[in-house]
Order: sequence, then C-alpha cells, then structure tokens
Amino acid sequence: MRNHPKEHLYKILVIGDLGVGKSSIIKRYVHQNFSPNYRATIGVDFALKVLTLDQDTVRLQLWDIAGQERFGNMTRVYYREAMGAFIVFDVTRPNTFEAVVKWKEDLDAKLGVDGEKAVPAVLLANKCDQNRDLLPNNVLKMEQFCQEHGFITWFQTSAKENVNIDEAADCLVKHILANETELTKAQVPDTVSPNLDEGRGSSCSGCLRS
Ligand code: GTP
Ligand code: MG
Repeated sequence: MRNHPKEHLYKILVIGDLGVGKSSIIKRYVHQNFSPNYRATIGVDFALKVLTLDQDTVRLQLWDIAGQERFGNMTRVYYREAMGAFIVFDVTRPNTFEAVVKWKEDLDAKLGVDGEKAVPAVLLANKCDQNRDLLPNNVLKMEQFCQEHGFITWFQTSAKENVNIDEAADCLVKHILANETELTKAQVPDTVSPNLDEGRGSSCSGCLRS
C-alpha cells in the first residue's frame, strides 16, 4: 500500500566565492533564465523551488549567500538549520576552487556537527561552458577531492547553458530524503533496505552527470 503523500521543507545553502555563479544557478533553477550581467548579492537572497517527488511535495528554500560573506561573521546565522548545501566554484578561476575547502570547513564548523553526520553537500564546478577541456581530465582528482572533503559528489554545471543544475539538485534532495528515511527506519529492522547513506563522500549512484 502507498504511503500518504508527504510535505517536506528543506533549507538549502548555496555558498562559494564572489562571482562564481551562485545567484545565476538559482535563477536558472527557479526562474529558467540567465543574465550575463553581474550584480553582487548583498548579505543573503532567498528563492523557493517546489518539486514533486513520487507523490511527495518538496519545498526547497534556497539561501543564496553573498560570496563576500566569507569575510564576515554572518554565516553562522545563515547556516543555522540548513539541511543541505551546494558549494560552487568557477572553473575559469582556480583560486575559487582553492576556497572550496575553506567554505566546507566553515560550513561544518558552524553547523556544529561531527564529521560523520555533516550536512550533505554537493560541489558544483560552474561555468563549464567556458572551459570544456579543463575538468574532464581531472575527473579522478575531483572524485578523490570529494571523498577527502566530505562531498556527496560533484557536477560540472553551467547556469548559462543550463547544464546539470536540475541533476545536482535532484541528487542533493535524494540524499536528504534518504537520510530522513534512514532516521525514521532506525528502530525498525528492514529486510531488504539498501544502504542509501553509503553514497556520502563518493559518487551519487542515481545521479546523471554529463
Ligand atoms: P556573489 O553574489 O557576488 O557572491 O556572486 P555569485 O556567485 O552570485 O555570481 P553571479 O551569479 O552573480 O554570477 C557572476 C557572473 O558570472 C555574472 O556575470 C554571470 O552572468 C556569470 N555567470 C554565472 N554563471 C555562469 C555560467 O554558467 N557561465 C558563464 N559563462 N557565466 C556565468
Ligand atoms: Mg550572488
């Protein structure tokens, strides 16, 4: 028998250095458009995306945090009660990739969770329309990086050309849902339940990547 449809509300953070494309990714994901003009986010912006998964309704409250907040103290407030995060870098600017580790450490430290149950995070290598040859050679390195730093997985994305944004979001939501299901089932031994949590720190088995 099918369960009753459920409603989920998840707070999702989008973080990373200045100008990497956080607002553009959200704009593409929520409003299906793109602008080449750069307008820096001040503080934090919000957007809501509603998904239907099976029969459940999933509301994603996206927190678009300004890159400049890396240098401020507000991230502790913004991160509170987040259920998942995207950390974004710009494939054309290596220093934004170097900053990813700092963003991840900031996230884990301020959400006050131990390494084991860190908030699920997906790494986005954005602006892949610019440098198509840069990353494919480094796929193995990227996977290793994700494992070392506790990312579920990574995606090459382009807000401009709408590459992999829906896929990355589906992957993150799937992991959050899986974690919830695991928690709910914790007391009830299940005969044939796949270990959905195993995906953390390695590839997201059900996710598409181009
Ligand atoms: P802050 O708010 O300052 O932290 O920046 P942000 O990360 O929100 O970056 P934003 O989305 O404002 O994008 C910065 C610039 O990069 C803008 O000019 C965008 O048009 C451009 N941009 C964003 N995503 C892409 C992309 O996928 N490809 C290309 N070519 N340009 C992009
Ligand atoms: Mg922005």
